[in-house]
Amino acid sequence: MRKNNREIINGISVEAPAKINLFLEVLGKRDDGYHELETVMQEIDLVDTLEFEEIEEGVKLECEDSSIPLNETNLVYKAADLILKECGIKKGVLARLEKRIPVGAGLGGGSSDAAATLKALNSLWGIGLSDVELMELAAKLGSDVAFFINGKTALCRGRGEKIYPIEVQSELSYLVVFPNVEISTPSIYGNLKIDLTKNRKDVSVFVKAMENSDVDNIGKLLFNRLEETIFSLYPNLLQMKNLLGSFGFCGLLVSGSGSAIYGLCSNRKQAEMIRNQIELRGMGKVFVATNTITTQTTR
Ligand code: C5P
Repeated sequence: MRKNNREIINGISVEAPAKINLFLEVLGKRDDGYHELETVMQEIDLVDTLEFEEIEEGVKLECEDSSIPLNETNLVYKAADLILKECGIKKGVLARLEKRIPVGAGLGGGSSDAAATLKALNSLWGIGLSDVELMELAAKLGSDVAFFINGKTALCRGRGEKIYPIEVQSELSYLVVFPNVEISTPSIYGNLKIDLTKNRKDVSVFVKAMENSDVDNIGKLLFNRLEETIFSLYPNLLQMKNLLGSFGFCGLLVSGSGSAIYGLCSNRKQAEMIRNQIELRGMGKVFVATNTITTQTTR
């Protein structure tokens, strides 16, 4: 579990971080309807907060944000229900969710909430599932959920559920802009035209730049195959990216299936400076964010 978890009476409180996609290439469409991906995801310190309390039975969800569904369609509900059933737990749980990560932004908020739920309930009830077992459960909930079991920075393959950690020892600073547009992931993949004659981007070059903490190169190599489809459906986002292009970022990209656009900055100070300028222009919600530094050595 994360270090910053704090124990609460009869329960547990955890943070669920957002992610950004630094690289995303689509290798093809699979027979099961999903797309085969090569994507580098990185956890950032924009977080939702979840509190879990044991109750007698069932799953109950509370959230002050009235736009968040509290029924079985919510990934927190699904994750709690899954772990209760799969592990034969004869108890229930009340989950309180505090949302900060924008929804429909390509920032993985729902997926992260689900992963945090699996980890928290595993800990609360002393179930003893390993990370590998948690990742197997996570993959049943959604393509991005397994990444959030260990988070940090990883190359993700398959439909996104095969995780290969990348060691990143330097702090990377970002400015994340959410343009108050919600995008549904299936609509982007559904409109994606896979052109196999196009040059496929090589993820290994990107991973090298990450491992070398080469910010200039990371900025130049940021890539998202979904951008073209996103911009064709949401031309305002292309306009916004072009506008953001004048702020001197090291690199600029839409995260995942959108709609958030982030800029890689030389340092946190630069991110804060640009935030102040962008806030004045009313382009949406703006967050300064930093990655989680890793020290792991396994690949
Ligand atoms: O797995 P998840 O429920 O997050 O995926 C949402 C939708 O995104 C899928 O139903 C599918 O349309 C699309 N998707 C895809 N290929 C992936 C991941 C997601 O086509 N690798």
